[in-house]
Amino acid sequence: MDYRSIRFALCLATIAGLVALSGLACAPAQPAFEPEIPEIPDLPLGLDANMMQIPEDNPITAEKVALGWQLFYDGRLSLDGTISCASCHQPEHAFGDPDQFSTGVDKNFGNRNAMPIINSAFHATQFWDGRTPTLEEQALGPVANPVEMANRVENMIATLNEVPGYRQQFLAVFGSEEITDENVGKAIATFERVIQSGNSPWDRFIAGDKEAVSEAVIRGQELHMGKAGCSQCHVGVNFTDAAFAGLYHNIGVGMDAEEPDLGRFVVTGDEADKGAFKTPTLRDAALSAPYMHDGSQATLEEVIDFYDVGGHPNEWLDPKMSVLNLTEEEKADLLAFMEALTGEVPAWSKLAPALPPSPEEGQ
Ligand code: HEC
Ligand code: HEC
Repeated sequence: MDYRSIRFALCLATIAGLVALSGLACAPAQPAFEPEIPEIPDLPLGLDANMMQIPEDNPITAEKVALGWQLFYDGRLSLDGTISCASCHQPEHAFGDPDQFSTGVDKNFGNRNAMPIINSAFHATQFWDGRTPTLEEQALGPVANPVEMANRVENMIATLNEVPGYRQQFLAVFGSEEITDENVGKAIATFERVIQSGNSPWDRFIAGDKEAVSEAVIRGQELHMGKAGCSQCHVGVNFTDAAFAGLYHNIGVGMDAEEPDLGRFVVTGDEADKGAFKTPTLRDAALSAPYMHDGSQATLEEVIDFYDVGGHPNEWLDPKMSVLNLTEEEKADLLAFMEALTGEVPAWSKLAPALPPSPEEGQ
């Protein structure tokens, strides 16, 4: 090799080295986060799209669902990073809490059971006492609640704004990478709206599959509509009159306590609302024990016994409540009917998605 070709080779090597170096320097410090985009499921059998409450300014899109899915499972929304929405709204329990009272940050307890949030898109109001009209507004409540996530909404927003993978997604979904509480609420609400439970044995029976349920279930449904009177309140596609704003009932739960939780009354100050609560769905009830706003009833059998004696007598007891005198067989049939309302939610919604890393995670 003569001097010239050596110089040429050196030169090439230098250029190659420089290219490699500059390549390194120019490579994005943050590889873009690639969110998993779930497939938005069709409405399952048994539900009715016309009954869904979707604000006009928050249409459902797959990217928004994906973002809300991450936020729902992300502990960084809480003060100490330990509690996510899914800590209390556990997917295996119809997105409710198997504990009577949920444990929040610092092992704090509230005084109400975390209700299942399946099909909450079909409720006209949110919470046991209906104090919040929309899922959008509801979503930020737990973040600042001292016994839940104990954070301040401003803190949570600041934390999220530090996560490049979130900024990138908020930009794509809402047209601004500045993360706001309003948009966090919209994203979480959109995820919640697609946690729909349907296609239960009862839905398949109604759709024509005569083999889908037993005779006991059919008898149980007749009791539900008739002698047991459950359908006076647990009515419609989601088996609750919570599809209509303004309907709350005192069935007597907790009214024997020294200082009863007065429920809807605390919101309205209306005497007639004392001890009244929103009617929960019966869909997936078999998965969502314990029951009632205070989680005081452990099993569906206990719930049926409670109704059998007409609930707990008190001054404000709903006139729709009465002593039922059900036989043991009738109780078993009612139970079978409720169990036949256990449906399916989208499988992916029950799993935690990959979350965009925080800056300190070296990304
Ligand atoms: C520490 C436990 C806990 C955490 C964490 C928590 N929740 Fe809840 N959630 C509850 C309890 C308890 C209730 C019932 C409170 C009430 O009605 O007063 C509830 C009620 C709800 C409801 C009302 C459902 C209905 O049918 O009315 C929705 C929706 C909800 N939570 C969503 C969320 C979201 C979204 C997050 C995360 C940002 C979250 N929750 C975090 C305990 C929790
Ligand atoms: C007057 C209206 C009304 C009638 C009638 C009624 N319910 Fe309820 N139901 C409610 C309300 C309101 C609650 C919540 C009460 C509370 O937490 O204080 C509830 C709660 C429940 C729960 C607990 C669900 C959960 O997620 O915690 C079940 C199960 C249930 N009812 C089944 C029945 C059955 C079975 C019947 C018929 C035997 C029936 N209900 C009749 C209004 C009614």
